Amino acid sequence: MREITSVAVLTSGGDSPGMNAAIRGVVRTALSYGITVFGIHRGFTGLLQNDMELLSSASVSNIVQRGGTFLKSARCPEFHDPACRKQAAKILHTRNIEALLVIGGDGSLTGAHLLEEETGIPVIGLPGTIDNDIFGTEDTIGFDTAMNTALDAIDRIRDTADSHERHFLVEVMGRNSGFLATHVGIAAGAEMILVPEYSVNIAEIALQLATSRKAGTGSSGIIVVAEGNEPDLTSKIAHELQQHGLAPHISILGHIQRGGRPSGHDRVLASCLGAVAIEYLLAGYSDIMVGVSNGEVVDIPLDDLIRYRKGLDPELLKIALQLHK
Ligand code: F6P
Repeated sequence: MREITSVAVLTSGGDSPGMNAAIRGVVRTALSYGITVFGIHRGFTGLLQNDMELLSSASVSNIVQRGGTFLKSARCPEFHDPACRKQAAKILHTRNIEALLVIGGDGSLTGAHLLEEETGIPVIGLPGTIDNDIFGTEDTIGFDTAMNTALDAIDRIRDTADSHERHFLVEVMGRNSGFLATHVGIAAGAEMILVPEYSVNIAEIALQLATSRKAGTGSSGIIVVAEGNEPDLTSKIAHELQQHGLAPHISILGHIQRGGRPSGHDRVLASCLGAVAIEYLLAGYSDIMVGVSNGEVVDIPLDDLIRYRKGLDPELLKIALQLHK
């Protein structure tokens, strides 16, 4: 067992539902081993400002069901600078904090990796992002909730699309990845799913939709468009559809997908990863992310997140297409 008496935890980058449950998992597990826990406010930005509070078991009461992160989150471009990472390590040393737990997406976890590599501060990452685009883990904290939030919105859009015999282009988040869009599209029964991983032929799409409308097999429809596609793809498709006599509507779901009460799945995932992160730390691990593979908790070297990109399973898209033949 590694001897640790004090750790800090922060949430960084875009918030995701379940981050609170993850903090709670970290805090309560650490306290059970007699470890002091500091909660850093506003991610790496707060760390650089030495802005943190001592957390007790009561500090994390009544948060497991809340979206967002009570520690606040931020994007911190300064952390790209090695001098800032050195400064962060100095602040942690001054407070006798021996390890850092970082809950965030791949950018935040890359920052965490560089902090350990350059300064020797042990770090453990937890995958917190709605995008589910982190290499090495099949699930991330917040993905399930975001998918269900998007589905709730699309199911409602479907009702009005059907009633008015219209097509809707629904843009979902996911940064450069089509993972969220693919899952949302399959679960929503979307007529088309457009993701950045595969090139899109706008003319072909418009012709296909116009033809099935004429044939009476597609008077309305939902086209899920991942935000990471080429710039303005959604409006370009809308324009092309208009040329074919269709009057599509655009609905950009945006940040609604990041908020809301975490699903039961995300609460359990976040609680378990929070607890396991402390167990791994005590077992001597660091410079790793705790994630999920084949339903089991695994550790992934943070280095791998920089070297490899999570690919979209082509089988999933194939299934999505087959379901709409
Ligand atoms: O990474 C999470 C995410 O919500 C992405 O899906 C999206 O592209 C991005 O963050 C938006 O970031 P911001 O809230 O900083 O505009």
